[in-house]
Amino acid sequence: MGDRPNPYIPQIGVSVVRPTPPGPPVRIDLSLNESSFGASPRAVQAAQARARTLERYPDPASRALRAAIGRAYDLDPARIACGNGSEELLDVIGRLFARAGDEILFTRYGFAQFPIVAMRVGAAAVTAPERELTADVDALLAAVTARTRVLFLANPNNPTGTWLPRAELIRLRDGLPGSVVLVIDAAYAEFVDDPAFDDGLAVVGERDNVVVTRTFSKAFGLAALRVGWIYGSAAMIALVDRMRGIGNVNALAQAAAVAALDDRGFVADAVARAIESRARLAAGLRQLGLEVPESGTNFVLPRFADAAAAQAHLRADGILVRRVEDYGLPDRLRIGVGTAEEVDAVLASLHRLLG
Ligand SMILES: Cc1ncc(COP(=O)(O)O)c(C=O)c1O
Repeated sequence: MGDRPNPYIPQIGVSVVRPTPPGPPVRIDLSLNESSFGASPRAVQAAQARARTLERYPDPASRALRAAIGRAYDLDPARIACGNGSEELLDVIGRLFARAGDEILFTRYGFAQFPIVAMRVGAAAVTAPERELTADVDALLAAVTARTRVLFLANPNNPTGTWLPRAELIRLRDGLPGSVVLVIDAAYAEFVDDPAFDDGLAVVGERDNVVVTRTFSKAFGLAALRVGWIYGSAAMIALVDRMRGIGNVNALAQAAAVAALDDRGFVADAVARAIESRARLAAGLRQLGLEVPESGTNFVLPRFADAAAAQAHLRADGILVRRVEDYGLPDRLRIGVGTAEEVDAVLASLHRLLG
């Protein structure tokens, strides 16, 4: 092979498939930012009911689900498209707008799917520096070139957990040329308890080049079913509808998501418990002398003197957390916000290592 890269192997640093580190059986999995608080029983029942007619295709237009989202968020269903997870919709935006020779822009520690989307379409992945692990609007605007087609901003971001307030989102939107599509990926929006935060839906306004993506995988606890949605102008949604998979949201997923939206009390309770756990986890980690950025998500990102040793120690206790060295953050671990008992287990384990 010599020292030249093999052109048939995509040159990409992050992988969606990560081996589980060896150890005893995993008792507590906090490695994927899933919900530790389950899904609404009404959503489970709705999926079970739809499972009685598996011979029938799903509605390719997700009509009932778009109507339910429209009611829940006060949006026009004609400006919504649903996806097989928000992941599919991020991919669709990449495929619609970028190709070889173009640039896809995101922040230095932006969500790992952004460079994957760029790689898939052959576009260059360009990163803008962050400030204190937080997106920097000036740096993003300075990184825009004539080739920039898409700017992905996860707000709040995975794995940093940090977010930009509404005023900064608007400054970013207004500073971008109309030729750049701004994607506000608000997968964790439910978990932010900052009044200056905006989930981005109002930021879209009448603009054709701004979209927001949301997911049922996190606060709603429906990760297994893969349901996400995108909100944008009617023209943008018409494009997304042509590029997405035809039967992209399976029938069980559509039924469960509609029912989950009807059980707002369940989601509100799950989010409240996650926020309470997050505060206790962050405080406990700080008591152990670790630096922990403020998080608006269902995970935290403490910094360790030796993150590999800390991960191995937790793993030996049956607790799985994620290293983020592939993001360029070798001294941090991403630890999901679990139930009260799971938080206790993490803190007790780390106390034995560091306390
Ligand atoms: C920032 C961000 N966006 C999008 C996703 C994808 O979510 P979905 O399950 O809707 O595909 C994730 C999943 O972890 C995420 O962290």
